[in-house]
Amino acid sequence: MKNFIFIGGSYGIGLSSINHIMSKKDQSDIKIHVYSRSSDNLNSLEGNVIHTPFDISKDEFDTTHLPETVDGFVYLPGSIKLKPFHTLKPEDFMEDYKINFLNMVSILKKLIPSLKKSPNLPCVVLFSSVVIKKGMPFHSLVAASKGAIEGFVKNMAVEYAPKIRFNCIAPSLTNTPLAKSITSNPKMLETSISKHPLKRIGEPEDIGKLVSYLLLEDSFMTGQIFHTDGGMSV
Ligand SMILES: NC(=O)c1ccc[n+]([C@@H]2O[C@H](COP(=O)([O-])OP(=O)(O)OC[C@H]3O[C@@H](n4cnc5c(N)ncnc54)[C@H](OP(=O)(O)O)[C@@H]3O)[C@@H](O)[C@H]2O)c1
Repeated sequence: MKNFIFIGGSYGIGLSSINHIMSKKDQSDIKIHVYSRSSDNLNSLEGNVIHTPFDISKDEFDTTHLPETVDGFVYLPGSIKLKPFHTLKPEDFMEDYKINFLNMVSILKKLIPSLKKSPNLPCVVLFSSVVIKKGMPFHSLVAASKGAIEGFVKNMAVEYAPKIRFNCIAPSLTNTPLAKSITSNPKMLETSISKHPLKRIGEPEDIGKLVSYLLLEDSFMTGQIFHTDGGMSV
């Protein structure tokens, strides 16, 4: 039995990852423990997916009902707040840092003992953004938090080798609820598409299948940043 912990997974890249995992493997072998505020899209996966109502910004992460071994951890909450630097306060950076990084750290600390017990060389999957490889105006907020994640992943990969793998995915604009403020604006969407060498933005499945691969199939990649961005960072 493999146990995966997802913070988020009720929609967006997380849901696509869960659907991909379920389409790949003998389902009796897998339990996905999803912690998120909503769960409507997960009802059809009942049995393999155990949902716990959870708000990372308010709730304490309760480990009482966790399985003894954990084979993967995926942290999905993130932000896209595009603002000119001169309008931002230091508190805005702290708020963004909490959502993207600090809240993840507090959960990961609680999961490390169960990840270490896994016989399956578990993988932690975190999310960065294309903006770490390619600077863009008005992205200072998200760049600050996601930059922290990339450095963290590389260093944790070495610190926890050969027990736990750490990898990071750095998408460009991807068609999820998080990106709605951009994708619902035809002009902004068109501009973004034109900047991608592959002439489209990402779909959740583009990223979900990589999450699934890292959790289920791979056992030799750690400390890597995967640029699933239609060539935008090249
Ligand atoms: N989409 C993009 O264009 C894009 C680009 C670059 C990087 N990324 C990164 O990729 C990751 C996934 O993005 P996404 O587009 O799939 O995001 P999304 O559509 O906003 O989905 C986020 C998931 O996290 C959960 N979540 C959010 N806030 C939460 C909270 N306070 N407590 C518990 N769960 C919470 C949501 O569930 P509930 O609302 O049900 O709680 C949802 O399942 C993020 O780190 C993002 O920064 C995305």
